[in-house]
Parts: sequence; structure tokens; C-alpha cells
Amino acid sequence: MATAHTFKLWFLAGSTFLLLLSACTTTQTPAELSEKEQKDYLQKGQMLAQQSFAALSGRLMSAIETGGVPHAIQYCHTAALPLVDSLSKAYKANIRRTSLKVRNPQDTPLDWEKNILQSYQQELTAGKRPTPLVKVLDKKRIAFAAPIYMAQPCLKCHGKLGETLNEQHYAAVKKLYPADQAIGYVDGEWRGMWSITFFRK
Ligand code: HEC
Repeated sequence: MATAHTFKLWFLAGSTFLLLLSACTTTQTPAELSEKEQKDYLQKGQMLAQQSFAALSGRLMSAIETGGVPHAIQYCHTAALPLVDSLSKAYKANIRRTSLKVRNPQDTPLDWEKNILQSYQQELTAGKRPTPLVKVLDKKRIAFAAPIYMAQPCLKCHGKLGETLNEQHYAAVKKLYPADQAIGYVDGEWRGMWSITFFRK
């Protein structure tokens, strides 16, 4: 009886100690991700960025086909954000695009986004190709970022004025975005990044 009792006490003390230990380690490093979590967020981010891109560009291209570039610009203005919003809701994430040269003022980078954009830019200057990444922002938020590049069809709205970008079409852009900075791009050029924030429970 006595030994069983002692054992029970030791067991209790031991598990309390373990509990304290794990509580300690979690409070000391609340923000770190395991390798598996890191991989999962990277995969989920890439999947969401691809899905958002497919949704945006698919609709954009059909808008250009049905109504021409000015119609598509208008469409972009009114429909692009809600579309990404609904994906955000479905995946309990905040999906957006940002850049060092924005068209839509709502896409202006936040501080942490600006840091990543600048490091992407430094990598490019150094001749490296930026890659998607996952970053812990705080206890509750994990960020995913991935670079965005220009393709040929993008130049219709972001290209060089009077060359790939038609001046009349650009007038339509300026009407909606008087402070636009997002022109002058060439095919393959780095444009900005996907920014996806995941919320941990
Ligand atoms: C029909 C015109 C049009 C085409 C084509 C187009 N865009 Fe845009 N783009 C816009 C407009 C308008 C906005 C601002 C609205 C918004 O935030 O979605 C924008 C915003 C963006 C943004 C968000 C950052 C910012 O500057 O506000 C990125 C990134 C972007 N475009 C990349 C691309 C890429 C990559 C392509 C080609 C796959 C592309 N765009 C094709 C019109 C266009």
C-alpha cells in the first residue's frame, strides 16, 4: 500500500514537473514553428496564392475579352478585392497583394510586408531568385509571402506607356487610381508579392 502511494505521489510530482516544463518552453518560445508546421503553412500559402491568382487572372482575361481593357480595369477595381475576400473567408486567412510600387492605395505594404519586399529586392539585385517564405509575426499570426512577376498579358495595364500600355487605357487607370505607381514594367520583371496571414487559434 505504502509503495503504491509513494509511487502515485512521485508520478504526480513528475507529471506536474513535466507540465510546468512544457508550459515554460511554450511561453519562452511561443512564436516558433515546428519543421512540419513550417512546411504546412508554406504549402497552404502556395495553394491559396495559386488559387487567388487563377481566380483573378481568369476573370480578368474574360473581362478583357468581353469588354476590352477599360472595362477590365473597372472590373478589377470593383471585383478583384471581393473575390480575394471570399477566398480569405473560406480559408480563415487574409489574402492580399502588395508591392513597392502600388496602384491601389489599399495595397500599400505594412511594415513587415515592406521588410520582405525589400529583402526580395536585395536578392534580385544580388542576382538571386526570391522564394516563397513563412514567417511568424506574433503568437496569433503567421505570414506567407511569395514573389509576383509580370507576364505578357499584365503589360496591357502595367507596361510601358505608349508602348505596351495604351495611353487611352492608361487614362482609365488614372481616373480610378490617380496616385498609380505600377507602370513601366517589362515581361518577367518582379512586380510585388502575395501576402497571406494565417490566424492561429
Ligand atoms: C485590365 C488591367 C490589368 C491587368 C491586365 C493586370 N492588372 Fe494588375 N492591377 C490592375 C488594377 C486596376 C489594380 C488595382 C486593383 C487591385 O488592387 O486589384 C491592379 C493591381 C495589381 C497588384 C496589387 C498591387 C497594386 O499595385 O495595387 C498586383 C501585384 C498586380 N496588379 C499584378 C498584376 C499581374 C502579375 C498581372 C498579370 C498576370 C496583372 N496585374 C494584370 C489592373 C490590371
